[in-house]
Amino acid sequence: MNQNTHRILQLLRAAPDYVSGEKLCEQLGITRAAGWKHIRSLRSAGYLIESRPRCGYRLTSAPNALIESEVLPLLRTRTVGRAYTYTASTDSTNRTASELAAQGAPDGAVVVADRQTQGRGRLSRSWFSPPGRNIYCSIVLRPDVPPDRLPEMSLVMGVAAVRAIRALGVDCDLGLKWPNDLFLAGRKLGGILCEMSAEIDHVHYVVVGIGINVNIQPDEFPPDVAEIATSLSAAAGTEISRPRLLAELLSQMEQQYESWLDRGLEGALPDWQRLDVLAGRQVRFSTRNGPVTGTACGLSASGGLRVETEGGQTVEVTHGDVNPV
Ligand code: BTN
Repeated sequence: MNQNTHRILQLLRAAPDYVSGEKLCEQLGITRAAGWKHIRSLRSAGYLIESRPRCGYRLTSAPNALIESEVLPLLRTRTVGRAYTYTASTDSTNRTASELAAQGAPDGAVVVADRQTQGRGRLSRSWFSPPGRNIYCSIVLRPDVPPDRLPEMSLVMGVAAVRAIRALGVDCDLGLKWPNDLFLAGRKLGGILCEMSAEIDHVHYVVVGIGINVNIQPDEFPPDVAEIATSLSAAAGTEISRPRLLAELLSQMEQQYESWLDRGLEGALPDWQRLDVLAGRQVRFSTRNGPVTGTACGLSASGGLRVETEGGQTVEVTHGDVNPV
């Protein structure tokens, strides 16, 4: 959206009622024909603008979309999202963000897409990413920590996601499943995929990707996903503002990230333990020597999942999947 289109949007937003076309154009020092072009481009971006002879223009609704003009005015962060790339469609925002990071994108740069054609999940799974409904977002971060601490980031970002949803006032049964799943009433609501470029002892950059099912309806999921997934609007019974949720998410992610850089997992652990959907449940995980079953008993100080095995031993799972039996 160009500068003048953006200014016309600001003027329309600030106006309590109709604003005359003449006044809009006068304030920007542009011709009526140019003014009309900006109104047209706002309408094609999804803004509903009424026009009435002798009264002018009035903004009646804004799109529930993650375009810059909807998200950036709500952003309260210092670095995260200050470099913001929105695209209607990409293969994967994590892939796009990695490419930008390799070209030198700054700490906190964000890539958001309305749709992904090859959305990626953890352990080479795919992430269902249809347009117009959800959030698909990736953040470039450049933490100065040893690479073996990076798994902690999924945990910290999970807490940020829950805080963001709560800050929006969506009252629902949220939980976290180790290490990277966002749960709602026992179903998968979202996931976090952290990828990195590093040497053995030095991190070049991390891309934190997050996908949240926001306004998708249960009957829009493919059958295999429908069995296990849910969305915020399905739980809340109302449409959720994607720009508000994303702006809140970026702000909570920044806060949690900074706290993690300062104090490690200490800040996020108490929240995480309260949200842990596996705590106290019988779980199974794989080891080199075959599957092991036991009772999940929370996180260790370094973010592994502690499991008390049937043999009475407590082991710490640090990678792979852990599932309820
Ligand atoms: C998982 O649950 O396995 C993680 C899912 C992560 C999905 C998000 S959507 C935005 C970002 N881009 C991707 O390709 N994946 C992540």
